[in-house]
Amino acid sequence: MATTSFRLRNCEFKNRVFAASGTYGYGDEIVDLADPSRLGAIVTKSLSLKPRAGNPPVRIVETTGGVLNSIGLANIGVHSFLEEKLPHLRSMNTAVIANIAAGTVDEYCEVLRILDDQEGIDGFEINVSCPNVREGGLSFGTDRAAIADITRRLRPMTKRPLIIKLTPNVSHIAEFARAVEAEGADAVSVMNTLIGMAVDVNTRKPILSTITGGLSGPAIKPIAIAKVYETARAVKIPVIGLGGIVNTTDALEFLIAGASAVQVGTVNFVDPSAGIKIADGINRYCDEHGIDDVARLVGSLDAGTGISVVDSWL
Ligand code: SIN
Repeated sequence: MATTSFRLRNCEFKNRVFAASGTYGYGDEIVDLADPSRLGAIVTKSLSLKPRAGNPPVRIVETTGGVLNSIGLANIGVHSFLEEKLPHLRSMNTAVIANIAAGTVDEYCEVLRILDDQEGIDGFEINVSCPNVREGGLSFGTDRAAIADITRRLRPMTKRPLIIKLTPNVSHIAEFARAVEAEGADAVSVMNTLIGMAVDVNTRKPILSTITGGLSGPAIKPIAIAKVYETARAVKIPVIGLGGIVNTTDALEFLIAGASAVQVGTVNFVDPSAGIKIADGINRYCDEHGIDDVARLVGSLDAGTGISVVDSWL
C-alpha cells in the first residue's frame, strides 16, 4: 500500500483527505454515521471569540450542482468549544485543525492564543474568506496587505501549522498566496466559496436573507482546480485544495493539478463517509498505478504542449 501520510511543520496527518470547515460540525454529529479516525484531519466550523448566531434565515439554498450558503459564521464561540466539544473531538483519533474567524486582527490573535494553550489542537486554518459577513471575511481576504498583516501577527504566536484559507473572489489568487507565504504561513487552503445569488421568480426577491451567499459543491470544481493549479505554480508551501470534491476522481484531479492534500466539504451533507471512501479510493488508484507514495501524485500534471495562460499572471 502506498504511503499516505502528509507532514506540515510538526504535525503528521495520516492521509491527505480532510473534512472541510462547516461541513463536519465539531465531529460529534458524525460519529454515528462515519468513522472520522480514517480521515487525515477534521477542520472545525469557524470559531470566533464570542458565540455568533449567524445570519437570519433563509441562509441555505440548493442550486444546480451546488449549494449557496449564508450562514454568517454561526458558532458556539471558542470558550464553549473548549468546554463542550474539544474533549470529544480529541478522542476521535484524527488531527484537529481549528478554523478561526474574526472581525478584527486582535480577535484572530486572541482566539488563536486561547486555542494554542490547549492539547488536542494540531493546527490552525485562518478564515479570511467568508463572503457572508460585513466585518472580517472578504474585507480582509480581498486585501493583500491585510492578510499579510494577519499572518505576520499570528505566525509568532504558534509553533503549530498555520494555514490561511483564501478566497477565489479576487483576480489572481496566487498573489494572495505569495503574500501569506512571505509572512510564514505553512500552507494555504484554496479555495473558499464563490459569491453567488439565487432569485425567487414568483416574489422577485432574493432567496437568501443576505441576498448573496457563497457557492460550493460540484458546480465550482473546475474553478477550484484552476485556482489550485495557479497557486501551486506560484508558491513553495503546500496548497490544500477544496471546492466541489465528491469522489476519488475529483480528489485525484486536485492532487495532480498541484494540491498536496484535499478537503471534502459539501458532499458531507449527502454522505458523511465520502472523505473516507475518497481516501480509500486514492489508495486503490496508487496500487493500480504502482505509485508508492501519494506525494508522487502531487503536481504530476502532464501539461504536454498545453500553453499555460496562468503562467503569464505569475
Ligand atoms: C458562513 O459561515 O457564512 C460560511 C463560512 C465561510 O464561507 O467561510
